[in-house]
Order: sequence, then structure tokens, then C-alpha cells
Amino acid sequence: MDYLRIQGPTKLSGTVTISGAKNAALPLITLTLLAHNKVTLTNTPEVADIKTLLKLLENLGATSTLKNHVLELDTSTVNHTMANYDIVKTMRASILVLGPLLARFGHCEVSLPGGCAIGQRPIDLHLKALEQMGAEITIHAGYVNAVAPKGLQGAHIIFDKITVTGTANIVMAAALAHGKTVLVNCAKEPEVVQLCEILRDSGIDITGIGTSELTIIGTGGKTIDMVDFEIIPDRIEAGTYLCAGAITNSTITLAKVRPDHLDAVTAKLEQMGCTIDIDGNNMTIHPASELKHVELITQEYPAFPTDMQAQFLALATLAKGTSIIEERLFENRFMHVSELQRLGAEIRLNGHTATVIGESPLFGADVMATDLRASSALVLAAMAAEGTTNVHRIYHLDRGYENLEQKLLALGAKIERLKE
Ligand code: UD1
Repeated sequence: MDYLRIQGPTKLSGTVTISGAKNAALPLITLTLLAHNKVTLTNTPEVADIKTLLKLLENLGATSTLKNHVLELDTSTVNHTMANYDIVKTMRASILVLGPLLARFGHCEVSLPGGCAIGQRPIDLHLKALEQMGAEITIHAGYVNAVAPKGLQGAHIIFDKITVTGTANIVMAAALAHGKTVLVNCAKEPEVVQLCEILRDSGIDITGIGTSELTIIGTGGKTIDMVDFEIIPDRIEAGTYLCAGAITNSTITLAKVRPDHLDAVTAKLEQMGCTIDIDGNNMTIHPASELKHVELITQEYPAFPTDMQAQFLALATLAKGTSIIEERLFENRFMHVSELQRLGAEIRLNGHTATVIGESPLFGADVMATDLRASSALVLAAMAAEGTTNVHRIYHLDRGYENLEQKLLALGAKIERLKE
């Protein structure tokens, strides 16, 4: 198993190019299951989660090549409809094949994803919506067995909670359903918006894109002629590098970003005293003369993202004053707190709220990555800590950050990947 050894404190400088968004690429890859043609996706991030999903699609019968961020994908040969536990257990987002497979084939068998480090993460809202569209769903031997012998039917669906992959799954199902589907209380994340835009560009009648209410007229089972497209930049990777600049007191530039997708993140960094310049698709962060404490609550887009909570928690350990960070989306997303405490951070946890006593002197230590974003918070803290930190279990990082150590090395960090 690999681990990262980081020497701190570090000063960074230069420019880092942001990769394509993993969380946009995942549903867009499963969207190709609705197409009858070969599709080319550019700016595809070459991270473990994408490779896992491609393996799942290959198991279903698809063919793909991924080289230099160009993904060529042909799902016209898909002839299986079972997503096995072996793959689904390693990546919850595999559930994104459920809607497209059911819509195209009228049946599918997808392993239940099970729990994960950040909480229970049920899929009840995905299943309830598909049932409203006429699917018959049974759970047997750990699998969701879904059938819609007459095809999926358009429906009026109100999501009880805003769900990102739930919205994506049902949008894809609705695209091939019979008649009109209205989805209320949808996720508005940029990744969902891109999915809807690609469907629209591929000829699907879809309105309300970017709002919480989407209306989709399905093709009645006909597969689509899908357009080629470029995946949007990863706003969470970008936010993580902005935090890298802030936590190391450095000026760094991010290239190939969508600054408008980062408004909530930049607003918080500015409240903490950092300055951010935007020039087209470039963003430059200048560190704060004195980092101020912050209060933030994670919520659905366009509010502050839960996927940036851990990184801000790391940053808050250095700020002047006491920061309050409330996690509203996942019940168990504070696993990084005890690891940050190993580096010397002073953090008190009370239910969903972390109180961070700032200006903690951080010292290098051995720490364990617990989930994808928690891992990046540990890397950030390690760059600010005095001495050597070893971040173990970095397979979490490899799931979603492309070439993290090469990118940080190029910015001047003292970081190396070693084997346990
Ligand atoms: C996606 C992102 C993840 C991000 C999260 C929230 C991907 C691949 N992952 O995850 O990085 O942290 O959005 O922005 O895009 N819920 C239910 N029932 C359901 C579905 C969800 O109760 O059927 C709950 C969840 O437990 C959670 C909340 O709804 O409390 C939001 O979850 P959801 O938006 O579905 O997260 P994901 O799509 O899994």
C-alpha cells in the first residue's frame, strides 16, 4: 500500500492545472449507456474512480479507451445488466448505472452499495422515484432487482431530500421513459447541470436546467445520438488547491477552472482574509496577512460544499480565533478530526458541529486517510505542520485527485510517495 511522506512547513508557488471533474465524469460515463453511438469525452480525469466505473461498463459489455484524458466509449455492445458487488462495493457512484440500464433494457440487477465512512448514504430516493415511474423493485441477496416490462413511464416526482446522484439517475431514466417526467427539488450542482446540458445537446427535450425543477420528455425507449463533449473542471480539486495556497501562506495560480462554480468557497476564503484574483479561467490566491476564523455550514449547491468541509477544517486550525464548522449533509463526516488532532489541532466535536480553536501549532505525525476529502485535508495540514507527516491509506486520494503529489511537487511541496 502506498503512503505519502510530506515535509513541512512548505511554501508553494507557480501554477497548477485543474483536472476534469470526477463527479461530472461519473454520471456522464453512465449516460453513454443511453446512446447507440460511440462517444468521445475530453478532459476526463484519470483517477481510480473513473477506471473502476469503466471496468464496470466493460463487464456490462462496453468497450473503452482512455488516453491523455480522452475517453472513447462505445456502449452499443452492452449485453449484460448486472452490476456486481465486487465493483459496486468499491465505489458507491456505481449506482449511477441503475437508471440508464433500467431505462434501456427494461430490467437490471445492481448491487446495493452498502455503507461508507462518511455515513449511511441510502439510495431509497433513487428507488422510490423509479417506482413512481412504473418500475417494480425488489431487494434480494444484496441486489436491487428492477424491472419495467412496459418501459418506464413519465411521472411527477418530488424528491424528499436533495440528492445529487439521485437526481442524475432519475434524469437519465426519464430521458428514455414514455412521456413527460417532472422532477421537483432536484440537485443544482454544476455536475448535474452538465449532465442535463449534454442530454439537451443530444436531442432530449429537457427544461429547467440549473433550477430545482426539471421537465423531461422521454424518447419512449429509443436510444439517443449522443454528442461528444468536454468535462467541466473539478471544482473540489480547485477548492483544495486554493486551500493549499491559503494554508501554506503562498500565492498560487489555478489554471483551467470555472471560478463561478467556486463562489461559496472563494467567499469563505475571502472572509478568512485571503485575496482571490480571477482572470478568465484562471484563479490566483494570495494568502491572508493574518488568517481569520470562519463560520460555515455545508449545504447543497450553490451553498458551501460538504466536499470542502475537511479542507477548511484543516485551514481553520491555523486561523486566529475560534471557527465553527457545521456538517449538514453527512452524519459521520468528521473522521479527519481525530487525525488532525494527532497533528496537534485543537478541535471539539459536538454532533454535527466542529469547533476549531485556531492558531494550533501543528507537528508532523503518522496519520490515516479515512475518505477522499478527509485525505486531502491531511495533506494540507501536513504541508503546514512542522516536521514529517506520513499520510497512510492514500488509495482514498487516488480515487479522486489526479496526480496529486506531482502537482504539489511542481508547486514546490516536499512530498513523496512511498510503499508501506
Ligand atoms: C454526491 C457526490 C459527493 C458529495 C455529495 C453531496 C458524486 C459521485 N458524489 O454524493 O461527492 O459529497 O453528492 O454533495 O457526485 N440521501 C438519502 N437517500 C437517497 C440519496 C441520498 O437519504 O436515496 C441523503 C444522503 O444520505 C445525504 C444526502 O441525501 O445525507 C445527500 O446525498 P447525495 O446528494 O445523494 O450524495 P451523493 O449523490 O451520494
